[in-house]
Amino acid sequence: MTISVDLLSNPVFVLGSFLVLIIFHNYLHKQPQHGKKYHPTGASVFHLLTNYNKIHDYMTDLAIKYKTYRILSPLHGIVYTTDPENVEYILKTNFKNYGKGNYIRDMTSDLLGDGIFTVDGDQWREQRKVSSQEFSTKILRDFSSITFKNNTIKLGKILSQAADSNQIFDINDLFMKATMDSIFKVGFGIELDNLGGNEEGVRFSRAFDDANNLTYKRFVDVTWKIKKFFNIGLEAELKKNIKIIDEFVYKVIQLKIEQMQMSKDEVLLKKEDILSRFVQVNDNDPKYLRDIILNFILAGKDPIAISMSWFIYMLCKHPEIQDKVAKEIIEATNVNEEITDVADFAAHVSEGTTDKMQYLHAALTETIRLYPALPVDSKVCFSDDVLPDGCNVNKGDVVAYMPYAMGRMKFIWGDDALEFKPERWLDQDGCFHQESPFKFTAFQAGPRTCLGRDFAFRQLKIISSVLLGCFVFKLSNENKVLSYRTSINIHVDGPLQVSVSRRSGFQNP
Ligand code: HEM
Repeated sequence: MTISVDLLSNPVFVLGSFLVLIIFHNYLHKQPQHGKKYHPTGASVFHLLTNYNKIHDYMTDLAIKYKTYRILSPLHGIVYTTDPENVEYILKTNFKNYGKGNYIRDMTSDLLGDGIFTVDGDQWREQRKVSSQEFSTKILRDFSSITFKNNTIKLGKILSQAADSNQIFDINDLFMKATMDSIFKVGFGIELDNLGGNEEGVRFSRAFDDANNLTYKRFVDVTWKIKKFFNIGLEAELKKNIKIIDEFVYKVIQLKIEQMQMSKDEVLLKKEDILSRFVQVNDNDPKYLRDIILNFILAGKDPIAISMSWFIYMLCKHPEIQDKVAKEIIEATNVNEEITDVADFAAHVSEGTTDKMQYLHAALTETIRLYPALPVDSKVCFSDDVLPDGCNVNKGDVVAYMPYAMGRMKFIWGDDALEFKPERWLDQDGCFHQESPFKFTAFQAGPRTCLGRDFAFRQLKIISSVLLGCFVFKLSNENKVLSYRTSINIHVDGPLQVSVSRRSGFQNP
């Protein structure tokens, strides 16, 4: 009796029992029902955990056996698909039945608030409308292109020093810093100067990256709510990081609002960064502004840095493709002599020149096919449904499509699916052609398709054309086979150590 009273007054015991009851309840109610057809069971969450470090390859192997499969889970049904018809159905045809739901929102809202990545319905529609208007403005396009170029020049200067001193360096780390600087400048109009080692910038970036990783861990830790309640373990760490982020972001927002309200200065009122533009249209709610900007940073930073790192890795593994990319850049920029100053080379790079670089576009797309920044994208099913393959999904099930596995499916890309072949994206005139977004799903598809796709390619092409126009890249260990680190995005695992030499042979053929 004494023991049970003690236990009942112990919050960990009470919450633990509550969790077990929820799991048991869900187990009984969320399992496939008799008489209905369901997808074959591929594995259980236990298998996912034991294969955590190579999870995307494990899930790809399962997808080779079954295009779509279920994972046994005590919490809710989970369906993973690589079938383009199912993907089209959940992302477009029956879009309203699949969304973030409370499950995804609960996990992400501490960091991302009510930003575009966490909400559904009217809240999402409203943000999508405002953001897409913002993304299509010339002012943002011009400002972002100048910002990307300036930060690439800074990056190029670091590479020049490395080339002169035969130094080996981690290009992944530099891409992470440079893209954070760019996205911060475009988002807030502020020089974070991570690349230059600014202390406040480095502190903010570290807190942001850690908070992002810790948020992802909630997806595999069924006890995260208990830890959050008691503010222990990874949840305590997450809270600390979010505090650092919020302090910094709210300070910037407050300053911006004051500046814009007080100043009649024409220059200030014409600011091009996204925060200023939202303040200008009279959205002065700091929480709303915080959520918009943090979602924008999350959307824009990691995918660019990740895609650039895998791109450089693939080009080092395929030097003949690196040469071909560089040849096209040199032809398009019309640079005839060796230029030693990166800024001088960058002066030849413009939207007009990058538009001509069809092979570069194809090589970047081919990289993203094999290493999509978001390897798995989950949705919650809002009401019982039947997918185009005739199988049932239940209300509350998580239904996920898998861009990483889909990029490796022979039934989608042919027998050479695993090969790095930019040519597959070119027509007979050498012009880039799109694939169905339900096969090439790296940017999602349907009404919630990535808003920043053009923005991303503009940035990727500016960085690539300046860096590959000036330097030849080599892996420090040419035999190294790079793997990924399991996280929400497909980061390269560990440093990407490379050396660079100055590119010669600038004569136009
Ligand atoms: C290679 C680069 C990129 C890739 C592969 C990529 C991929 C994706 C994917 C898969 C989604 C859907 C995520 C979800 O289900 O919530 C998405 C959404 C989004 N992306 Fe991108 N993205 C890239 C770059 C960018 C950039 C640079 C920006 C802007 C700065 C951006 C802005 C957005 C926004 C605002 C959404 C939310 C759309 C909505 O929910 O309506 N993306 N992106």
